[in-house]
Amino acid sequence: SAPDRLALRADLLDFDADPGWAVPDPATGLVPGVRWRPDHWLLVEDGRIAGVEPAAAFTPDAAVWSVEDRRGRLLMPGFIDTHVHSPQLDVIASYGTELLDWLETYTFPAEMRHADPAVAVAGAELFLDALLAHGTTSAVVFPTVHVSSTEALLAGAHHRGMRLITGKVLMDRHAPEGLRDDVPGAERDSRALIRRWHGTGRLAYAMTVRFAPTSTPEQLAMAGRLMMEVPGLYMQTHVAENRAEVAWVAELFPEARSYLDVYHRAGLLGERAVLAHGIWLDDADRALLADTGAQIAHSPSSNLFLGSGLIGWPELEAAGARVSLASDVGGGTSLSMLRTLADAYKVQALRGVRLTAWKALHGATLGAAEALGLAHEIGALEVGRTADLALWDWAAGPVATHRDARARQLHERVFAWMTLGDERNLAATWIAGRALFRRAPIR
Ligand code: GUN
Ligand code: ZN
Repeated sequence: SAPDRLALRADLLDFDADPGWAVPDPATGLVPGVRWRPDHWLLVEDGRIAGVEPAAAFTPDAAVWSVEDRRGRLLMPGFIDTHVHSPQLDVIASYGTELLDWLETYTFPAEMRHADPAVAVAGAELFLDALLAHGTTSAVVFPTVHVSSTEALLAGAHHRGMRLITGKVLMDRHAPEGLRDDVPGAERDSRALIRRWHGTGRLAYAMTVRFAPTSTPEQLAMAGRLMMEVPGLYMQTHVAENRAEVAWVAELFPEARSYLDVYHRAGLLGERAVLAHGIWLDDADRALLADTGAQIAHSPSSNLFLGSGLIGWPELEAAGARVSLASDVGGGTSLSMLRTLADAYKVQALRGVRLTAWKALHGATLGAAEALGLAHEIGALEVGRTADLALWDWAAGPVATHRDARARQLHERVFAWMTLGDERNLAATWIAGRALFRRAPIR
């Protein structure tokens, strides 16, 4: 159970604004938007952040506070993974295919097994505990087409008190038997899940269109109707990930101006729409994202692993579109947002763009929270926010330790941490002030 009052001493890092593409100050490593509060106490009361005090000026009374002195470690808001597939832990790191073959060869057969409630529950539990063991406290998640897997994920997240957004996957064509729904059944199941779970605890429901090829126009229209009808629903899908996929969508929807326009015509784009990938978009698409407020969940690990392409991240933002960071496991090869951000740097490097650690980390914390309309609740170490926290070692292993000792300013240090770090750096994860993950002590 949660201690009523928790005092946690560490180096505090978060953001109070988008650091953008600014180059770090050579001497300090800082840019505007970065909030660096080394050696501070973070105070948590009843699951919320209640105060932040410099360690030099404050000593918590152990009679009042449950005290955790973790000085020398890094405390950040828990990461937000804006696009990830819970059942795909079964096929993460599968060899040798691009998107459409990968779906048929590995993903669809694996997802089919989650029709079995026992498989679905075990899969959801494994997935949620794995998120916490990677320092991720919130996520926008694809389960499978089955109610069993959706229900298991929602119930598991609720039990853990996690801020999770998910919904039953909609797919009524171009998928094998056992992995398809139909419009009336999908509508009935979605409505029942919404009634039971949307707004329950910290959960929100997302109309979950797998991607345009696996939904009939009638199913897209049904999803659009529910978006209009139910306040606060999210929408998640994939868009413009792979060139063969884009060509297929153009064949299937000849009336649409573009892949993104298929969703727009169905009324699916809005402030709460989360579209994975968005690599193969044009200027009109970028303007449409900006006009509707829909966001791109950039998944660099997946984009590299499936050979999908290199996203124009600054171009999206220059057009006014919002971009957050996502693992896209099992197309992505790690649930670690540090690994994801390190891959994001490499993707931009291949395009001649320099991504700072600040911009990258912002997109996995406050930036994602803002894009999801949840910045009042998560994404920053700010009084009043829910205490969803991750505590990190600056280095794990001799090479990272060696490198960390040589950092001359803060950006250099944080960039090396982001580039060399992963879940082995994680010491603990809190959800609403409750420690739900602690690394086993090394004996
Ligand atoms: N497009 C449609 N389904 C999927 C999926 O499961 N993963 C990825 N990366 N792209 C998709
Ligand atoms: Zn995906």
